[in-house]
Amino acid sequence: MQSLERRQAIIVLDFGSQYSRLITRRVRECHVYSELVPATTTLAQLQQNPHLDIKGFILSGGPASVYDEQAPACDPAILASGLPVLGICYGMQLLAHQLGGHVAPASGRREYGPAILETLAGAASDQCYFRIFEGIDTTPAQTNPLDQPGAVNSLRMPVWMSHGDSVDMLPNGFKVLACTDSNPVTAIANAQGMVGLQFHPEVTHTPQGKEIMRNFLYRICGCAPGWTTGSMIEEAVEQIRQRAGHERVICGLSGGVDSAVTALLVHRAIGDQLTCVFVDTGCLRAGEREQVVDTFSRHLHIPLVVVDARRRFLARLAGVIDPEQKRKIIGAEFIRVFEEEAVRLEEQAGPITFLAQGTLYPDVIESTSHDTAATAKRIKTHHNVGGLPEEMAFKLVEPLRMLFKDEVREIGLALGLPEDWVWRHPFPGPGLAIRIIGAVDEERLETLRAADAIVTEEIRHAGIYRELGQAFAVLTPLQSVGVMGDGRTYANVVAVRAVTTGDFMTADWARLSPELLARISHRIVNEVPGVNRVVYDITSKPPATIEWE
Ligand code: XMP
Repeated sequence: MQSLERRQAIIVLDFGSQYSRLITRRVRECHVYSELVPATTTLAQLQQNPHLDIKGFILSGGPASVYDEQAPACDPAILASGLPVLGICYGMQLLAHQLGGHVAPASGRREYGPAILETLAGAASDQCYFRIFEGIDTTPAQTNPLDQPGAVNSLRMPVWMSHGDSVDMLPNGFKVLACTDSNPVTAIANAQGMVGLQFHPEVTHTPQGKEIMRNFLYRICGCAPGWTTGSMIEEAVEQIRQRAGHERVICGLSGGVDSAVTALLVHRAIGDQLTCVFVDTGCLRAGEREQVVDTFSRHLHIPLVVVDARRRFLARLAGVIDPEQKRKIIGAEFIRVFEEEAVRLEEQAGPITFLAQGTLYPDVIESTSHDTAATAKRIKTHHNVGGLPEEMAFKLVEPLRMLFKDEVREIGLALGLPEDWVWRHPFPGPGLAIRIIGAVDEERLETLRAADAIVTEEIRHAGIYRELGQAFAVLTPLQSVGVMGDGRTYANVVAVRAVTTGDFMTADWARLSPELLARISHRIVNEVPGVNRVVYDITSKPPATIEWE
C-alpha cells in the first residue's frame, strides 16, 4: 500500500485544452492519482506539497501556437527535472520548442478528426524510446497488409488528431516513433522518458489510448496502480479524523449523491460526532424525504435530523413569480433554517465546529483556473442552496475536494449507498419551485409532484434512466381546453423535459420513443387531477437551459 503521507502523482499542466480534465480522469482511471494545475505552475510550487510524490508530468493540448505572443510555456525546471514528461498536441509542440526543436506553423490547414497512426520501421527495436507503444496489440485488422511475412510489423492504429502546427525538427536526443499519412512526426520520444504525441490518447476516438496512457504511467513513470476506491476511502477517512479530531460535525443532506457520500465518509471517520440535517423545503419530489430518512437513519444508521420547514418556505414563496427571486428566497431561507437547527443542536449537545460539504474537484479546478467560468455571465443564481452558509462560523470538512464525480459514485457504492441513489439525476437546490412556472402553492406542488413521479417511473421502466442526464416534468401556467368523457375541461398544461448531456453545460433533448412519450402523456392526463395536456420540450441547451427557470 502506498503511504498516506506521500502519494504517487502525475501532474497535468493545463494549457487550455477542452480535454485537460479528461486527461486527469484517465490517469485516475488507471489507478494513479493525478492533479490538474494551471500551465504556469512551477516545479518549486509543486514540490512544496509534501503529500505528492511526483512521478511525471503531462502537458495538455491547448488552443495556442508556440509562436503566439502570449503562448503559455512550461516551467523549464519541469523539463530539466529528469522526470518523465508526456506532451499531448500543443504539449508536444511545446516540448519540442522548449527543448530546441522546431515547430512548423500551420499552413492554413488544420488536421482534425480520425487518422491512422503507423509506427516507423525499426522504431520498436529501441526499447528505451518505444516504451509508450510497447505491448500494444497489432491485431490483423491493424497490421499493414503489405507487410512481408516474417518482417517486424509496424503498428497501425486509429487515433484522433486535432492540431494546426506540427513538429518538423526534433530536439537533440529525440526520435520519431510514428507518423500518419499527413503528419510525418506524430509521436516522438527520447530515452529519458520524454514523449510527444500529436494525437489525443485521452479521447475514446483513440481506441488504444488507455493502453498508451498506461504505458506512460507504469512503464515510463514507474507508477504503481495504488489509487483505488479502497485507498480513496482510507485516505479520506484518515484526513477527516485528523482534521475533525473529537469535534462535532454537521452535514446538510440534499438528497443528491455528493452530500450523501460526504456524510458516509465523515460518519465512517468519526461516527456519531456527525449529525446530518435534511431540510424539507416543501419543494421536494414525491417520496424524497421518506427515502432520505429510510436510507440514512434506518439503513445506514447515521444520525439524521429532519427539519420540516415546508410552511416557512411556502409562506415566503407565496405570490412570487420571478425565477431569480424564487432562487434567492429559497437560498436565504435555507441558510436561515440550517443555522437555526445548528444552534438548536449546539444547545442540545455542545458546540459544532465543522460543516461537511460535498465540494467536488471540478469546482476546485474552476476556482483556481484562469478560464472563463469565473467571469462568465450569470445566467441563473446557481448553487445557492444546500451548501455554503459562508457567514456561519464553521470550519469546513470537504472530503470530496480532490475527487471527480465518477470516483464519488464508486465510493458511494462501496460504502453501501443504494445504486439508484448513486445514479440519481441531479436535482436543483430550489427544487420544484423552479419547475412551477409562476406562483408556487401547495396545490400546484402536488400536481407537479404527481406528474414528475410518472415521468421518472416510466423512464426507469423503459430502462433508459442512466442514459439520460435529467428527466422531469414542468408545470406551466397555461390552461387549455380539453374533452374528457362527455365534458369540456379547462386545465393545466404539463411539459416533459428529458435531456442527454455530458457536463450539463450543454445538452440535447432526448429522442424518447413515441411509445414512451405516449405512455407518459396518457398516464399524466389520466392520473393527475387538473392536467389535461402534455407537451414535450424539444429545445437543446443552448439556446434553452435545462431547467425552465
Ligand atoms: P440549467 O438550467 O442552467 O441547469 O441548464 C444546469 C444544471 O444545474 C442544475 N441547477 C441547479 N443546481 N442549484 C443547484 O444545485 C440551483 O439553483 C440549480 N439550478 C439549476 C440543473 O438541474 C442542471 O442539472
